[in-house]
Amino acid sequence: MTLRTLEKTKGDLNIGISQQNREGVVKILNTLLADEYILYTKTRNYHWNVIGSHFNDRHKFFQEQYEKLDELIDEIAERTRTLGGMSIATLTEFVKESRLKESPGEYPGDLKMISKLLSDHEQIIRCLRSDLEICDTKYHDIGTNDFLTGLMEIHEKMAWMLRAHL
Ligand SMILES: [Fe+2]
Repeated sequence: MTLRTLEKTKGDLNIGISQQNREGVVKILNTLLADEYILYTKTRNYHWNVIGSHFNDRHKFFQEQYEKLDELIDEIAERTRTLGGMSIATLTEFVKESRLKESPGEYPGDLKMISKLLSDHEQIIRCLRSDLEICDTKYHDIGTNDFLTGLMEIHEKMAWMLRAHL
């Protein structure tokens, strides 16, 4: 795991979180960003490749979901920058750092697509529940704790919408 270094600027941030703690938070945010990018790509793949009698509904539903993930991706990367960290921003790094797995060449049926997305959302929710705790108790960054709590709630709602199809 590559530890992202903090931005090389003239003065350090003076916001009440030590540089060491900000490095820990940036690492959490970059790993999460990689997870979100993999899930975004998977959702977009299914938007393109879904088939079946519910094509129109599923096609639109997956689009709503990947558009939401796209918003989250931007917010996570910009939170990293807010804390003086550098955001990972290449596909190579996203694949390397992500905790989620891709399945190249596989085109599941529409319900299987939904269950695979649900499983990834649930994995992210479990990771977030642990990461947000660490941001508070270990790194004393209550702002990122709050940010990740909000993200977790969004994933919980997206997971509900996926689960409701099954
Ligand atoms: Fe499209």
